[in-house]
Amino acid sequence: MQRTALITGATRGIGREVARQLHAAGFAVFVTGRDPARLADLQRELDCPGRVADLSTAAAVVELYAAARAALGRVEVLVNNAGFNKAKEPITQITDADLDASYAVNVRAPILLAREALRDMAARRAGHIVNVLSSIVHVKQENYAIYTAMKHALHGFTGCLIKEARAVGVKVTAVYPGGVNTMFRPQPRPDYLRPESAARMIVQCILAPEDVVVHELTFRPMVETNF
Ligand SMILES: NC(=O)c1ccc[n+]([C@@H]2O[C@H](COP(=O)([O-])OP(=O)(O)OC[C@H]3O[C@@H](n4cnc5c(N)ncnc54)[C@H](OP(=O)(O)O)[C@@H]3O)[C@@H](O)[C@H]2O)c1
Repeated sequence: MQRTALITGATRGIGREVARQLHAAGFAVFVTGRDPARLADLQRELDCPGRVADLSTAAAVVELYAAARAALGRVEVLVNNAGFNKAKEPITQITDADLDASYAVNVRAPILLAREALRDMAARRAGHIVNVLSSIVHVKQENYAIYTAMKHALHGFTGCLIKEARAVGVKVTAVYPGGVNTMFRPQPRPDYLRPESAARMIVQCILAPEDVVVHELTFRPMVETNF
């Protein structure tokens, strides 16, 4: 039977490449993002279902999962990839609004999607949830306080998820990429990883042998030395 996957943040960058590579590996994929034109392009390319959704509201997140499940029949793999860092800024410049916006997309949305997926997957005693964090979890850096705090929150959640999901036969992988050359930053970084390469690292965890679960995966471009 064809395997299925829901990928968030699939309109560009790492998520788009994960969707392409899973599709090439024979998966039925459901793709999502906010940008309708980019989403439509990807859906045309992969001939797959999808939905425009802004993950900053809890209701939209839960609706998104239901739409993916309805379109795919079941969600076997969830790739919680959508995320952002608005800007590098010192702690003294943090606003309430920036903090709330980052929490909603970088923490609440992947947690709610994992909850929805785990309910389904636990009933089948099968499935795989992949949370894309960041190597920022392993380092400390000035002007990254909000983003770092959010990825740390998701890191803590994922540690608990690994344990609860294992008990019901569900795999969980926490991915900690270093720099990837995507639109995540305002300026291109050709010295960073290609999104295709980052996606390959993620997809290999999903395609790992049945008896293997990759709990944690950290990778970086060779130029990166902040570890
Ligand atoms: N690039 C790096 O160096 C790097 C390093 C470590 C970790 N990461 C992590 O990897 C993941 C993917 O990053 P990327 O580099 O591929 O970034 P990207 O090119 O900026 O893509 C981010 C994706 O997230 C989606 N997204 C952002 N805000 C959203 C919202 N409110 N609702 C729904 N979707 C939203 C975007 O879709 P729309 O624009 O269509 O909404 C886009 O598809 C993120 O979690 C990021 O934190 C990236």
